[in-house]
Amino acid sequence: MADATAASDALVLFGITGDLARRKLFPALYRLVEHGSEIPIVGFASSDWNTDHLRRRARESLEADGIEVEGNVWSRLASLLTYVRGDYRDAATLDPLCATLRGRERPLFYLAIPPALFEVVVENLAAVGLNRNARVVVEKPFGRDLGSSERLGRVIAAAFPEERTFRIDHYLGKEAVQDIMVFRFANAIFEPIWNRRYVSSVQVTMAEEFGVESRGRFYDGVGALRDVVQNHVLQILLLLAMEPPSSSGPEAVRDEKLKVLQAMRSLDPLATVRGQYRGYSEEPGVAVGSDTETYVAARFEIDSWRWAGVPFFVRAGKALPVNATEAVIRFHHPPRLLFAGKDAPMPQRNALYFRIGRSDGVTLQVQAKKPGAEMVSRPVDLDVDFHEVLGAAQEPYERLLGDAMAGRQTLFARADSVNESWRVIQPVLDRPQPVHVYDRGGWGPEASFYMLAEYGGWHDPRDAA
Ligand code: BG6
Repeated sequence: MADATAASDALVLFGITGDLARRKLFPALYRLVEHGSEIPIVGFASSDWNTDHLRRRARESLEADGIEVEGNVWSRLASLLTYVRGDYRDAATLDPLCATLRGRERPLFYLAIPPALFEVVVENLAAVGLNRNARVVVEKPFGRDLGSSERLGRVIAAAFPEERTFRIDHYLGKEAVQDIMVFRFANAIFEPIWNRRYVSSVQVTMAEEFGVESRGRFYDGVGALRDVVQNHVLQILLLLAMEPPSSSGPEAVRDEKLKVLQAMRSLDPLATVRGQYRGYSEEPGVAVGSDTETYVAARFEIDSWRWAGVPFFVRAGKALPVNATEAVIRFHHPPRLLFAGKDAPMPQRNALYFRIGRSDGVTLQVQAKKPGAEMVSRPVDLDVDFHEVLGAAQEPYERLLGDAMAGRQTLFARADSVNESWRVIQPVLDRPQPVHVYDRGGWGPEASFYMLAEYGGWHDPRDAA
């Protein structure tokens, strides 16, 4: 039986000629080699490339990423790279890969390929015995609804046991996302107020300024709900809502996330708003008359003792005014008392802001006395910028690739949670609301503005907290 904790001794990247490898994986590999990794890296794809070509592409990708390539690190990385050409759909073309991997006992296969190829590649790896003692990393999307997710899960499970399967969600590799758990469970002062008695609402915004760019063909078959809500946004929500895990072990943490999902009501399609930015249907690769959403807003409800009655609002969209991901916890208003009988406004609610990917950090908004004769309060921010205080964050792909090679699963999605998250959003996939067209650079369809009317509205991440 394979040792689940032994480090991988070869890394095979399926789809090495693709966009993900160029943008994210080569920079991550460079950092891993810089920090001492010495395992051979095999790039596999169908293009007519050779190892020199692969090295050139790797070098270009590092330079495009702005990395100051250091000669010594580069020559080590270049010497670890090998290219193998093959057809993803044909198990016979895996022979050269088997030959390249001879003597390696615990390879890690990273599937940076179109989702339609996941199943056939996994089956082919098993057909030639390459799954033995191996790990597999699968990129999202894991299926496109509950049924396909369950089917993909079965195909993977037939070849790779769960402890050797790594479903990557790069948001879990972001330091500011991991900080949510640290913030909650390394600070004893927040736990007593982290529940329905004190929290009035929670909101998560994932806003992107750009449109679908060159990914129109992929995106048009997916849409915002599948692309980022089912995975990145829900993962943030789970970290905000989960109970304290009994340890930092992978199963303890992932069990708690699963419990939140199990307590979540399936979405009500009528409580969601779908939008599409003006001009989307003219983007290259997008079908004429497409009703794919580039914006979605939804209200999640968690029926647990901690959260019953607290709405969790989420919105995600492209062509919005800013690139920003943030989570906002709004607490209840204080009783009026001290401020009663005055014309002065009631003190605002306290709020806590987690910023992710845009000046990463946390802000706690409290009330302070406004200078002057009157007893009036105004909000002030207790604010920390992680970069300034803690230094540069580690890149998510470096962290996650390193964890997968070491067999550490905490930051990877487990099959049961993936299926459960599809169960939650499935009604919206079955009965999608019509898409509202919105202007580029605005905050999406007007219908979404009213969703939080009773809860103080959406927070604009560009405003001071
Ligand atoms: C990807 C989505 O998973 O995440 C993209 O497919 C999205 O559509 C991207 O732009 C956002 O990631 P980040 O790290 O840039 O916020």
